[in-house]
Amino acid sequence: MVHTSPSTSTARTSKRENLEEGGVNVLIIGSGGREHSLAWKLKQSPQVGKIYIAPGNGGTSRVGENVGIAAIDIEKLLQFALDKKIGLTVVGPENPLELGIVDTFRAKGLAIFGPSKAAAQIESSKAFSKTLMERAGVPTATFKTFADEPSAIEYVRSHGVPIVVKDSGLVFGKGVTICRTLQDAEETLHEIFSHDSKQVVIEDFLEGPEMSIHAICAGTDFLLFPVSQDHKTIGEGDTGKMTGGIGVIHPLPFVTPALIEEIGETIVQRILIALEENGTPFSGLLYPGLILTKSGPKVLEYNSRFGDPECEVYMRLLKGDILSILQGSVAGSLAGLSLESESLGCANLILCSGGYPDEYKKDLRITGIEEAEKIPGVVVFHSGTKIGNGQVVTNGGRVLAVTAMGASLKEALDRAYEAADKIQFEGKYLRRDIGAKVLR
Ligand code: GLY
Repeated sequence: MVHTSPSTSTARTSKRENLEEGGVNVLIIGSGGREHSLAWKLKQSPQVGKIYIAPGNGGTSRVGENVGIAAIDIEKLLQFALDKKIGLTVVGPENPLELGIVDTFRAKGLAIFGPSKAAAQIESSKAFSKTLMERAGVPTATFKTFADEPSAIEYVRSHGVPIVVKDSGLVFGKGVTICRTLQDAEETLHEIFSHDSKQVVIEDFLEGPEMSIHAICAGTDFLLFPVSQDHKTIGEGDTGKMTGGIGVIHPLPFVTPALIEEIGETIVQRILIALEENGTPFSGLLYPGLILTKSGPKVLEYNSRFGDPECEVYMRLLKGDILSILQGSVAGSLAGLSLESESLGCANLILCSGGYPDEYKKDLRITGIEEAEKIPGVVVFHSGTKIGNGQVVTNGGRVLAVTAMGASLKEALDRAYEAADKIQFEGKYLRRDIGAKVLR
């Protein structure tokens, strides 16, 4: 049970644990802007001891200690956590969750923030997720699941376009295609089935503004972060290929307290109850991606971890200590905890390597980060970077997350763009229309 409001989400009292002498040692798994922002926020907690990030990036190495273990190398991560007396592990990306890292760590008595492998299916299997949504009465697009190409094509031909085709497995935000012609749909299905996918979900196309919801969960208890909006395609005007997400804004003017109440009840609580009744109770971070249609909010997908680039905005906005909130989720109760966020505007602009989400160059020198951070309200998180010969160089498609807070969204965006323009690397690309629709 929880109470929610636009900037504060509160629950009941309980005691916290895992406080060790010298603070709780924390291991953060992942290498993106999300993990840098989590490390940055945890570093502010007087209760946190050492922070390790595996494998981390050029920015995390300045907040804690990077550890050269891949996010999916569960056995090595487990041994590291045991050796370093890690009091809390925080899992960033979805792939270690799908591989069962939480179950493995819990079996050894280690505290780890995230859902079990079974509960993480809410993201790792679109077929599982859509079936559970239907059972729980969660508002979502009508759908059908197919395990072979001819039946899927027959369905698309009889249904017509536009239609949405989703690879059922994990494809890092890029497995969803909006098909506007039959040819598009048939080519997409052919492409998915010719790889190793075994299942495809085909659903009705929905229209409206998209929103990201983030809930810290412990069974059926949850606390909501404020609503934000990501920008998913590489091109301006929401055109071009899908990316992992390249620009986030908060607040959204059309989000009212009544809408948040409705989302909490129909989209977060219903699925948490269904997960518990299914024998797969959820703890960790539940991130429903929504669309606000004329007939109300509908779920596009559930994710089982913090969004990236949303997490950076939430860590900037969050007041108070995140450690006790993460520990509450791990301990199975959010009683007495609250998530309080600044009532300010916040923007996050992702600086990308030229060519992303297709091929791009690496090892290009980055300059201007310190200058950018002199602008009021600006913090730059690293994503695809590393330190090479003492310099920060590019090491991925999404390179830096330039966040800015302001009295309004407009001020936050102005500051973020000013900061983004101070940073240089060969081929740097960013969308110039982040938040433009909302501001209009
Ligand atoms: N906001 C995109 C993602 O994290 O999936």
